[in-house]
Amino acid sequence: MDANIHALYGRDIHRYLDSNDCDYELCVLPASEEAKNMQSVLTLVQGLDSFGISRRNEPIIGIGGGIILDVVGLASSLYRRSTPYIRVPTSLLGLVDAGVGIKTGVNFNGHKNRLGSYFAPSVALLDRGFLATLGDRYVSNGLAEILKISLVLDAHLFDLLEEHAETLLAERLTGRTAVGDAVGREVIRRAVDGMLRELQPNLWERNLERRVDYGHSFSPTLEMRALPALLHGEAVSVDMALTTIVAERRGLISAPDRARVFNLMKRLRLPVWHPLCGTDLLAHALRETTRHRDGLQRIPLPVGIGDARFVSDLTHEEVTRAAEVLRDLDLPTRAAPRLSDVGGHGHPIVTDVYDIGELGDVPDGAEAAHRDHVIACDASSVVWESIRWSSLPPGAACVEKAPGFAPKLYFILAGEGELLLGEESHPLRPGHLVVAGPSAVHHVRNHGADDLNWLLLEFHGLLNSTIWPDEASAGGGVA
Ligand SMILES: NC(=O)c1ccc[n+]([C@@H]2O[C@H](COP(=O)([O-])OP(=O)(O)OC[C@H]3O[C@@H](n4cnc5c(N)ncnc54)[C@H](O)[C@@H]3O)[C@@H](O)[C@H]2O)c1
Ligand SMILES: [Zn+2]
Repeated sequence: MDANIHALYGRDIHRYLDSNDCDYELCVLPASEEAKNMQSVLTLVQGLDSFGISRRNEPIIGIGGGIILDVVGLASSLYRRSTPYIRVPTSLLGLVDAGVGIKTGVNFNGHKNRLGSYFAPSVALLDRGFLATLGDRYVSNGLAEILKISLVLDAHLFDLLEEHAETLLAERLTGRTAVGDAVGREVIRRAVDGMLRELQPNLWERNLERRVDYGHSFSPTLEMRALPALLHGEAVSVDMALTTIVAERRGLISAPDRARVFNLMKRLRLPVWHPLCGTDLLAHALRETTRHRDGLQRIPLPVGIGDARFVSDLTHEEVTRAAEVLRDLDLPTRAAPRLSDVGGHGHPIVTDVYDIGELGDVPDGAEAAHRDHVIACDASSVVWESIRWSSLPPGAACVEKAPGFAPKLYFILAGEGELLLGEESHPLRPGHLVVAGPSAVHHVRNHGADDLNWLLLEFHGLLNSTIWPDEASAGGGVA
């Protein structure tokens, strides 16, 4: 059982099993891509061995999201060559995708699902009641796979998503209102039906042209490289956005339909772009996918909304160009969002955090700040790539020289250090707010025993001289 499900539903599940006189042993596993490995499989089979499970009559029951279902499925297929198992998916992605097919697997050697098997569960029990406690981001994550089915198989499902996106998100498809109930049920049913129709005649993937692989050509590499920043469905969404552009440039989908797709992705709170989508990553991903599909690309591309075609002649230039178009398409919303676009005042700002490598220049002999995340605007934030979280290890120094010419503030969150403004030294402690003018170059040193962490906020045109202190534009100050 997924550790989070155990915390939320453990008591009820124990009560149910006890009142039905079941002899059982519980194995609680963490659900994360990092823990989706052979070690978790071995922990589980160790438990099966000590329990002395009967290989014919006593099923293993996997209860959790896609990660736990994949781990439990692989352990079941390995244990005594095969032991029956039951899937109880609890996440939306589990309900419509991981819980539906016969694939199992774990990550290995930096590759997604590199070790796995085809092993059908005896039963899959789908109960959308679990979704009531699923985190918002994971609801969107599951909706990405549903959107995938709609784009290549089911135009009516796309219409349903388009018409009810906000209701589906707000009610988590559990059906708190009559309309939400009917739509949630219908959306899950159509998504599962679409999956079944595609998978059933090709369970062992003898035919490698699979529509359900849409969004899964570039995403496996992107997802693993971006870990843990991108969830599975989010990586799939970026892949679908990229291949929708490729399809548009090949005349397979019209510009208005492409706009509908992108608009729906945004409304479902799915990303359409990730900064790791550079030439190298995309070329590597294309090679990996071609190898995985037996030497041919076999990339599904959308044809309009609701249909697909397979192509094996994508060039690197074509993919790189599509990525550039995608980045530029994403820019206007990132560069110039208005508060009125994001739900008005008083609403929380939701952002994506991207890892962009090291911070600024490093003085001789000093160690670089070891993390530097850009919290980029995803159309819900009011500034573009302007909030960054940085962390400097003990003994290290760096130059805080944020790109661009906007004024900055940085707020010390943890640790102890020193800021050098020219010859002048200022202590840095949690709670300090540093004001930096557009041209200022600040040397930051960590004197403490712990990491020195700060949040940097950059204001693109939001501050004017009346609220921006004169001395700040000259160099900076500490408050
Ligand atoms: N075998 C397949 O055919 C197949 C298909 C699609 C995806 N997958 C795999 O599935 C995985 C992604 O699945 P996922 O998105 O379900 O991720 P997940 O298993 O990590 O679950 C998402 C998160 O939500 C929590 N959670 C699950 N159900 C919950 C609930 N009802 N209430 C509160 N929290 C809950 C989990 O503990 C976890 O933190 C990927 O590893 C992917 O490769 C497999
Ligand atoms: Zn998937």
